[in-house]
Amino acid sequence: MSSDYILETEGLSKQFRGFHAVRDVSLRVKRHSIHALIGPNGAGKTTCFNLLTTFLSPSAGRIRFNGRDITRSDPASVAASGLVRSFQISAVFGQMSVLDNVRVALQRKSGGSFAFWRSDRVLERHDARALELLTAVGLEPYQGHIAADLPYGRKRALELATTLALDPELILLDEPIAGLGHEDIGPVTRLIAEVARQRTVLMVEHNMKVVAELCDRITVLQAGEILAEGNYDEVSRDPRVIDAYVGGAHD
Ligand SMILES: Nc1ncnc2c1ncn2[C@@H]1O[C@H](COP(=O)(O)OP(=O)(O)O)[C@@H](O)[C@H]1O
Ligand SMILES: [Mg+2]
Repeated sequence: MSSDYILETEGLSKQFRGFHAVRDVSLRVKRHSIHALIGPNGAGKTTCFNLLTTFLSPSAGRIRFNGRDITRSDPASVAASGLVRSFQISAVFGQMSVLDNVRVALQRKSGGSFAFWRSDRVLERHDARALELLTAVGLEPYQGHIAADLPYGRKRALELATTLALDPELILLDEPIAGLGHEDIGPVTRLIAEVARQRTVLMVEHNMKVVAELCDRITVLQAGEILAEGNYDEVSRDPRVIDAYVGGAHD
């Protein structure tokens, strides 16, 4: 078993009524790397994420996380084992304060039930760690604000804080930069880089500048299949990749 790779898939495939959304994808994600999954719309990126978190079950293939076969595991136990997709838990509670959102996530991590969330005494146990996480994502000055009132970029930062509260080993991010204002792209990019120092990140991202800056390795999907793989320079010079993105434009 190669412990170099935190996540490995073998021949992963998903058909929707005969349509191959993902076909024979064998992906290997190195521990402590930032790995990008890119490709044109409809390439199968989100379906891949849904397979990796076991929200969808594959038509064929296997998934190993930390050397363990999780192909048939249920989504909750996959998340508990350390593979967490950001928006999965990013159901940020709009009417709660920024601090309480992170406290609740920490309480969830320690196995607390909803009844316990309501108890201030129980939540206070997590204050030190909650503040640490808020500081890490630059939200410490916003801790008393109602989550719904935060600007969009800060909400994304809060999503990351609540994800980090679960202490995942591997974080899946589906277009973390999408929808951000120009002024938020830099800070959120730096935040992802910071987060990845102690973890592994697999991200779908369309902003190639961000991919170039952040990602150690890139897998390009097209029509459900892996088209190319490599670092940014290799992938961006690959004629098949260029063709997949601009192909047909010259007709
Ligand atoms: N639940 C579904 N039922 C049928 N077709 C689907 C379903 N989910 C995705 N697809 C199709 O699979 C293909 C890949 O979709 P998706 O994974 O969302 O692509 P991407 O995230 O790369 O844009 C698309 O053609 C899409 O229409
Ligand atoms: Mg998608």
